[in-house]
Amino acid sequence: MNAGQGNIPEKVIDAVLEQHDIVDTVSRYVHLTKQGKYMKGLCPFHSEKTPSFTVTPDRQIFYCYGCGKGGNAIKFRMEIEGLSFPEAVKVMAEESHIAVPEGQGAVVNPPNPERERLLQAYEWTAKFYHFLLKNTEHGKAAMDYLRSRGFNDKVIDQFQIGFAPDRWDTLVQFLTKRSFDLHEMEKGGLLTKRQDSEDFLDRFRGRIMFPIHDRNGKIIAFAGRILGDGQPKYLNSPESKLFNKSRILYNLHQAKPSIRKLRQIVLFEGYGDVISAWEAGVQNGVATMGTSLTESHAALMKTMADEVVICYDGDRAGQAAAMKSIPLLEGVGLSVRISVLIEGLDPDEFIRKYGADRFNRQMIDGAVSTTKFKLIYLKKNHILLEEEGKIAYTKEVLPIIAALPSSTEREVYLKELASELQLSFESLKQDCNEIRQSMQKNMPDGDNNDKRWNNGRHKKGQVAAPTLLPAYHTGERRLLAMMLQDAEAASYVEKRLGDAFNIDDHAAIAAYLYAYYAQGKPPDISRFMSSLHDDRLEKTVSSISMMDTPPEWNVQELDDCIREVQKVPQKRQIDKKKEEMINAERSGDFLRAAQIASEIIALERQ
Ligand code: GTP
Ligand code: MN
Repeated sequence: MNAGQGNIPEKVIDAVLEQHDIVDTVSRYVHLTKQGKYMKGLCPFHSEKTPSFTVTPDRQIFYCYGCGKGGNAIKFRMEIEGLSFPEAVKVMAEESHIAVPEGQGAVVNPPNPERERLLQAYEWTAKFYHFLLKNTEHGKAAMDYLRSRGFNDKVIDQFQIGFAPDRWDTLVQFLTKRSFDLHEMEKGGLLTKRQDSEDFLDRFRGRIMFPIHDRNGKIIAFAGRILGDGQPKYLNSPESKLFNKSRILYNLHQAKPSIRKLRQIVLFEGYGDVISAWEAGVQNGVATMGTSLTESHAALMKTMADEVVICYDGDRAGQAAAMKSIPLLEGVGLSVRISVLIEGLDPDEFIRKYGADRFNRQMIDGAVSTTKFKLIYLKKNHILLEEEGKIAYTKEVLPIIAALPSSTEREVYLKELASELQLSFESLKQDCNEIRQSMQKNMPDGDNNDKRWNNGRHKKGQVAAPTLLPAYHTGERRLLAMMLQDAEAASYVEKRLGDAFNIDDHAAIAAYLYAYYAQGKPPDISRFMSSLHDDRLEKTVSSISMMDTPPEWNVQELDDCIREVQKVPQKRQIDKKKEEMINAERSGDFLRAAQIASEIIALERQ
């Protein structure tokens, strides 16, 4: 059961749970409203229109009555960010400056001072560069350039754009005056060292500075664009203690609210695109640092949105990058549409040329399906005026159409293809069907299985009808609910019932709970959960702790439940005897039948 824990000491887990309040944790993703002892909101794990997702501050747990997901703050982060248990603990520990040692013996450290200093340096540096851009002679040329590109003051402030003067030591002096350790600043990516010497230099010189924020709005890096032409066009901060390119999305901190509301992300290639689109009213836009989208990015996006609109440059490179991003995004379950920019423009240029309205209408609302995009993209490789070109193109695109699960969809694309290439729809359809058949042969467990699994998972009865549970089932749940809140109640039940719960999962939870209290730990549902490392048990515990139980346990209540629970084996025994009796009667052994009957009566008397 401890397989998922890695070697993270319990102390660390406890400290993490102490530092991360469940309401704060969940509120970053879900809008919660207070309802008596609970907070309620729309479940982030399944789609719903009326809230069935609850958070109980008292118990530090969440539970969804709709989909049955539940657990403590660590569990919530695991689910919503797609992290493993140790990953979630590490991330959360880092956020609250709890040290996670590799080996034994956890130490809860004061805030990581080096990290704090670096964050401080980035924040001040961003302010400094922003000031230089707006208020000094150094920034004048850059300001003119930005204005000429249509960036107004409001947007320059909003994105904290700055300018690093073309000198060697502007920032060196600034940081020295503020007593920062220059070695540390070099390691953190703000400075560099002159070759073969100990002198520090500004890393960014003569560049327009775009601060990069983490998702909580802290500045952790810069992207510096050269003023005018030259190489490299963009210079990024190196990876550092703070900055991991493959997990960062530019502008996510500002786009988050809009992303959550729309459940949609618009993904750009460039910083300028994000900024122009923001001005054009697209406030759910983010960009990767450079062009490469990673699986981490995709997983991160999936935690906030259902759909991604890829809005890359209209040139060959941009469209090829879009093509590569599709499987990554679809791979994590996001649906994808693509903006096909005309005339090789990038989104920024499109907005300047055609305006915000047309951008929103054509590029965002009018973004095409991935299939449509693939058809458009592959077309460019072929000369469709020639028979050979038509055939080669058809060969490339038919498998894409054939793989679509919906026959209506297949028909739509086949019709389009037929009319565009002036081929007969019937023959295209026939070819398509043949390809589809051979595909299915190679995939014995095709998509039907998927659906069956889905149906099972969404089966209503499981969660929706707790009142229909047999009395002993409810009795066991009530017992556990009281035991979770009180060590004495647990000890009382342990003596009288032990592990004789009829439902295996309940017996397992009881056993873990006895062991938990035996270590002298206080009742703490959230903490107890993180000792389970079993998804199903955690869910069951969440669901149980949502039951209404008396605030104080009492012996009467426990005894009633214990009796309900103990009845079951007896009742089972009686049922078995009855069956034996019937069998005996059938085979004519009436003596035996009568004997069994008296046994039954004796059992029932008990
Ligand atoms: P503008 O020319 O100012 O409009 O920038 P852009 O964002 O349109 O640039 P471009 O389309 O050339 O590049 C798209 C993105 O790729 C940029 O926003 C950067 O993230 C990245 N990129 C481009 N050039 C470089 C480079 O030289 N180095 C690095 N590290 N990234 C680059
Ligand atoms: Mn551009």
